[in-house]
Amino acid sequence: MAEVRSAILGTGRAYPQGILTNADLEKMVETSDDWITTRTGIKERHRAAEGEYTSLFAVQASRQAIERARIDPLEIGLVICATVSPDQILPSTGCLIQAELGAHKAAAFDLVAACSGFLYGLTMADKMIKTGQIRYALVIGAEVLTRYVDFTDRSTCILFGDGAGAAVMGPAEGDRGVLSTRIYSDGRFAEQLYSPGGGTRVRPTAETLAQGLHYFKMKGNELFKMAVRSMADVSIEVLNEAGFKPEDVKLFIPHQANQRITDAVASRLNVDGSIVYSNIAYHGNTSAASVPIALDECVEKGMMSEGDLVLLASFGGGVTWGGALIKW
Ligand code: ACO
Repeated sequence: MAEVRSAILGTGRAYPQGILTNADLEKMVETSDDWITTRTGIKERHRAAEGEYTSLFAVQASRQAIERARIDPLEIGLVICATVSPDQILPSTGCLIQAELGAHKAAAFDLVAACSGFLYGLTMADKMIKTGQIRYALVIGAEVLTRYVDFTDRSTCILFGDGAGAAVMGPAEGDRGVLSTRIYSDGRFAEQLYSPGGGTRVRPTAETLAQGLHYFKMKGNELFKMAVRSMADVSIEVLNEAGFKPEDVKLFIPHQANQRITDAVASRLNVDGSIVYSNIAYHGNTSAASVPIALDECVEKGMMSEGDLVLLASFGGGVTWGGALIKW
């Protein structure tokens, strides 16, 4: 079949009603609104209540994306749920979402690439649409990270939030669509951000739970430097591949990990702050959900016009990173 370009045809997002503010965190650990705001840019984040789980938000975000793409769920050939906080180990959250949506003709699975998961999924979907194997894909980033956060560890509990974002991808019209993508990982840095317990290596027992081995452990400082370098480098790479320069970009949507990381990446790329999207103040770091939530907010705010170059970049645990350039 002839190769076609893929495009994002509809987006959606959802998150819990519950909000955890910096003032709330001040009562839980030794921290301050001033420290969190200055060091990260975060003011509040959404937090799932008991009984709320990852697929709940993923399904809401997906329904919105499907409605906006004006397709029938049965037309979807691929459902990718990027997450590090699945509903359960088996079956995949992707399959649970597929069932809720009635997307019974799709292949569905989970993709574990931490904060880069959405860009990994977008890359996979792009290739399958390009080769004509599928017509429509639903790519979701969904997390309830606060279940894996140790609320006695001030270095991590201030960062993470919950939510989901989704995008329907399909064949592009004209010369718009995904122009280039790149994804990478380097497992030598696995222990920069990891949850040591709960799998087959350190299986979950009452003891491992009491020791908090299922919680995220992070070396923030080292990740910070890698995140800045990787997101800037991969951005240049996807731009070069498509024959563009940073100054051609109309909207840059980076993974929302830390406002200082975003500012440092923008400065390395030498792009004006006005084209760099940030919602970290209200969501914190939602890992795989971060880029698609931000993308949907930008769509809703009317921040891109047809033909605009939109640059996406991400970095996360693994370590993983990726970039994509889209002609809107
Ligand atoms: N409140 C007050 N003080 C704190 C807090 C807090 N919440 N957390 C740490 N501190 C203290 C530290 O103990 C340290 O004190 P010390 O100097 O007396 O030892 C001091 O503040 C400085 O700590 P640093 O860790 O050096 O602070 P830094 O400026 O690096 O900020 C942060 C920490 C916010 C974690 C930053 O390093 C960061 O954002 N890193 C990147 C995180 C990331 O991108 N992760 C990957 C993606 S996430 C994913 O894949 C799911």
